[in-house]
Amino acid sequence: MTNIYAVILAAGQGTRMKSKLYKVLHPVCGKPMVEHVIDQISGLHTKQIVTIVGHGAEKVKAQLGDRSAYALQEEQLGTAHAVIQARALLEGKEGCTLVVCGDTPLIQTSTMESLVRHHEKTGAKATILTAHAENPAGYGRIIRGADGSVTRIVEHKDASEQERAVKEINTGTYCFDNKALFDALKHVSNENVQGEYYLPDVIEILKEAGEMVSAYQTESFEETLGVNDRVALSEAERLMRARINEQHMRAGVTIIDPQNTYIGPDVVIGSDTVIHPGTVLSGSTSIGEDCIIGPNSEVRECEVGNRTVIRQSAAFDSQIGSDVNIGPFAHIRPQSSLADDVKIGNFVEIKKASFGKGSKASHLSYIGDAEVGSSVNIGCGTITVNYNGKDKFLTTIEDGAFIGCNSNLIAPVTVKKGAYVAAGSTITDEVPEESMAIARARQVNKENYVQKILPKNE
Ligand code: UD1
Ligand code: CA
Repeated sequence: MTNIYAVILAAGQGTRMKSKLYKVLHPVCGKPMVEHVIDQISGLHTKQIVTIVGHGAEKVKAQLGDRSAYALQEEQLGTAHAVIQARALLEGKEGCTLVVCGDTPLIQTSTMESLVRHHEKTGAKATILTAHAENPAGYGRIIRGADGSVTRIVEHKDASEQERAVKEINTGTYCFDNKALFDALKHVSNENVQGEYYLPDVIEILKEAGEMVSAYQTESFEETLGVNDRVALSEAERLMRARINEQHMRAGVTIIDPQNTYIGPDVVIGSDTVIHPGTVLSGSTSIGEDCIIGPNSEVRECEVGNRTVIRQSAAFDSQIGSDVNIGPFAHIRPQSSLADDVKIGNFVEIKKASFGKGSKASHLSYIGDAEVGSSVNIGCGTITVNYNGKDKFLTTIEDGAFIGCNSNLIAPVTVKKGAYVAAGSTITDEVPEESMAIARARQVNKENYVQKILPKNE
């Protein structure tokens, strides 16, 4: 293969989105559209990727970082004008240049590869990726001559009734001979309904100069969907969700209701794991084999082992081992780490806490800023009192300790190995190894007291 360069068009404001967020930063399945595009382009081993930025340039750059070079389009005068901004970086290079719109999040590496292959095989100076659209409104139409070859692209707004009837559309992805592209761009004018410099005009310019242009039609219109408004955004979300879920199912994950399961593009799931409805898995979460997740669970940026169960619960930025049992209705907050065989039961909140192997907090507890050893049993209603209104303090519960129900552990405090805290205690001082702490008032029974305060009617 020759050298491949890529230009991503991402400078537009996206007026039709009616949004404060720049169009290409709108997420699809949790990831900004333009990042999906760059992920797929990265699969092509390009020599260089140049993203054209304008509206929201700093935000787009912050999102993509050093995965791309950038060229600034200060005024958005059209897609041809956008590509011209890459001149300083690309003009004169030997090879082909892919141009992809930042608002086509579903485009896939394999399709772009086929486009490049077709382009090389035909020896064309420009190859357009086209698709058949049942409803082509809004897209540029591919106009072919009597011999079937492409002559030009006409924008929807500039098209005649007859041209609008054409269902073959310009997907906005092209492969150009790099030198021919920058030569042709010099001749693009803005004499059209929108007064913009259209990149598709390059096709007609090359054709008229006697160069060969070609089209490669993809089977899947859906992959080329351009997101211009929120209706298309929801459509892209639905298609991307279906694609991601299908990949997991084909790889051995059971998804009970794919329409109602939301998995981010970077999530990894092991085989024989079952995902129940209403589950949202996002970020770079990884889940092992034979797990049960959901119904109605949210897991973000977590690493989860094998055979773990997370029912009706939320877990964020945490490490969760194997054979762990979470929920229903548990909340695992960031920077927590649960070793194997841990149990976090209903209405338990964990924050920045580590649990050693086999430890349990089965009911109604808050464990924050804590180091819990292995085989610890935390009774119902235990609270680590970690905050004095100003600073946070650490609670340490060593291996084998037993914390009785409804205890307050006032941090900083340590319950040493094998120690026992009696139910209802408020612990302020270290509990030594193997000893029992009881810190509550003794019970007093006042005989016949009720009779005195609530005399019964004679
Ligand atoms: C464009 C094509 C159309 C094609 C469709 C496919 C043109 C003139 N039309 O139309 O033939 O069917 O895509 O989805 O190219 N952009 C810039 N700078 C600009 C203008 C646009 O960077 O000055 C970027 C936008 O951010 C966007 C992309 O280029 O990511 C496409 O622009 P958009 O306005 O969405 O073009 P369409 O009307 O969809
Ligand atoms: Ca568009």
